[in-house]
Amino acid sequence: MRSAIAAHNIDMIYPNVVSPVHALKDVSLEIADGEILLMMGPSGSGKTTLLFVLGGILSPTRGRVVVRDVEITNLDRRQKARFRLKHLSFIFQGFNLFKALTARENVELVLHARGMRARPARERTQRLFERLGMTRQLDRLPRDLSGGEKQRVAIARALVAEPDVVMADEPTSALDAENGLAVTGLLRELARERGATVLIASHDMRIAPFANRIVQLNDGRL
Ligand SMILES: Nc1ncnc2c1ncn2[C@@H]1O[C@H](COP(=O)(O)OP(=O)(O)OP(=O)(O)O)[C@@H](O)[C@H]1O
Ligand SMILES: [Mg+2]
Repeated sequence: MRSAIAAHNIDMIYPNVVSPVHALKDVSLEIADGEILLMMGPSGSGKTTLLFVLGGILSPTRGRVVVRDVEITNLDRRQKARFRLKHLSFIFQGFNLFKALTARENVELVLHARGMRARPARERTQRLFERLGMTRQLDRLPRDLSGGEKQRVAIARALVAEPDVVMADEPTSALDAENGLAVTGLLRELARERGATVLIASHDMRIAPFANRIVQLNDGRL
């Protein structure tokens, strides 16, 4: 199987003036196409940093990242942004939904950004919400949604444009056990149907059964 993502000898040092933080230390990792990989590790071990480096949001201090045959560590800011829009999507720690937009608008936004017209974007979003059992929540603002519902909107937003790679940062942190497992199952199911590669960063052991492989980060080392 070809690899969707390959990271070679990644070092990440946050250039803090007082005391620089060495957040990733010589991390190398390959993720196969269609794989569901879980990155575990205690708080502060570098999970979010690694996701951001693999997704081209942060540039590493040293090392190379190749996503679908493109060396993203060689791209400039604009090229990276365009590459992300086309191939990657993120579910951020804390969801990052736009507060002033309804659930539907938060999701449609992604399709508009990719140039899809209003009508098909609306229809595709509608179908995904049906799939998530969320049609009643379509026109609500994030503040009128429960934690689990917000989570589902974030998942819908991440999957609606059928990205090649989905990166999820602590997707269950705001949820109780039952909801956490339900949304993780849903994420896996939808990703499988679309052939997406999934990276999940979490310290929630309950997610383990959903993954094909688990890697452990400790103090910036894999
Ligand atoms: N912008 C930043 N500037 C300086 N240091 C940072 C910055 N972001 C993260 N760090 C540090 O880098 C290390 C790794 O942080 P990171 O957020 O990747 O950990 P994490 O494993 O995602 O933790 P958590 O489970 O709490 O989300 C920590 O020591 C953190 O304090
Ligand atoms: Mg984190």
